[in-house]
Amino acid sequence: MIIGLGSDHGGFALKEELKKYVEELGYDVKDYGTHSTDSVDYPEFGKAVGQGVVKGEVDFGIVCCGSGIGISIAANKVKGIRCAQVWEPYGAKMCRRHNNANMISLGGRMVGLDMAKECVRAFLTTDFEGGRHERRVAKLEG
Ligand code: RB5
Repeated sequence: MIIGLGSDHGGFALKEELKKYVEELGYDVKDYGTHSTDSVDYPEFGKAVGQGVVKGEVDFGIVCCGSGIGISIAANKVKGIRCAQVWEPYGAKMCRRHNNANMISLGGRMVGLDMAKECVRAFLTTDFEGGRHERRVAKLEG
């Protein structure tokens, strides 16, 4: 399984740490940038990872900006993306179980590294429940 990662400058440090962690968990990684702390615009990176997910270049996406908000909004503008902003593992698990989220976003200025890692692990190891949630998720695509 290949996981796409992306961030702006505000999420760069967290993205770099999560890249190592995702590899430690045994997944392959595709890094869509950014590649430094130079100031950049988060929509470019949220959309790039989202497009990678819908094209099938990667299986899931994990994106980081300062708050986790802007980059999740950007990712959710890509048709077919369900990106949940998470900051604790329960949400990271439930966005897979009930919402079939294919991306999560985290705020590099909001979430500590250990908590972020737990979110990532919960997201990547939880399956969609299907059943009644299939109908609801289908209704998200207008
Ligand atoms: C950049 O300063 C900051 O606005 C960005 O990382 C993010 O938090 C936007 O939602």
